[in-house]
Amino acid sequence: MNTSLLPRGPVDGDIFAHIAESLYTTGYCILSDVFPVAYLQGLFIDIKNTDSRQFHYAGIGREQGFQLNQFVRRDRICWLEQDHGRADFYFEWMEKLRLYVNRRLFLGLFDYECHYAHYPEGAFYKKHYDSFQGSSNRRLTTILYLNPDWQPGDGGQLLMYAKDGETVLETVQPTFGTLVIFLSEEFPHEVVTAKRSRYSLTGWFRINNNSGVTLDPGA
Ligand code: OGA
Ligand code: MN
Repeated sequence: MNTSLLPRGPVDGDIFAHIAESLYTTGYCILSDVFPVAYLQGLFIDIKNTDSRQFHYAGIGREQGFQLNQFVRRDRICWLEQDHGRADFYFEWMEKLRLYVNRRLFLGLFDYECHYAHYPEGAFYKKHYDSFQGSSNRRLTTILYLNPDWQPGDGGQLLMYAKDGETVLETVQPTFGTLVIFLSEEFPHEVVTAKRSRYSLTGWFRINNNSGVTLDPGA
């Protein structure tokens, strides 16, 4: 998609500097107005037009069965390929962010994976970490919300907790264009039950755990 004609917010460099600063001081940041509205609308149309058969119940680990998954999370996800038409600009932006935070914070981020997520009415995701120290290659979580006219009464908030797992640091409304970025190993978080369909584009920067001999088992 040609995004050069779209109105721009602050230049990426300023946003990247702000993100790096926030990650360094608090480990997370919550942003709005990062992406042009017209681009977000295109993503929203794309996610709504994606055939529901391409969305799968998300898992919580290789050993867990369907019953347990359903107890922990009820969202459905659709992984995106790097060449997924509408997401091209998004992937490029994430690549620029990756290079920037690697230079500034030495995070050693290696690649990026992301999926659309759909929480149908009644869906939730109980308190969890995206990654446990040393046991996964996910280092940085990104969530972009794509919900026009989301109201506080619609539920579906993201609750971010301190390491104690009890103190709520942030209650994030999943409003259109809000982007949340946090260190995956630092923050337990959950999604409160959504009272209507809730859409997002969720992804992770990973480090490369490959050794010379064996392939990374977490890949
Ligand atoms: C996840 C997750 C939070 C959200 O997919 O791991 O925690 O607000 N998502 O969608
Ligand atoms: Mn999560």
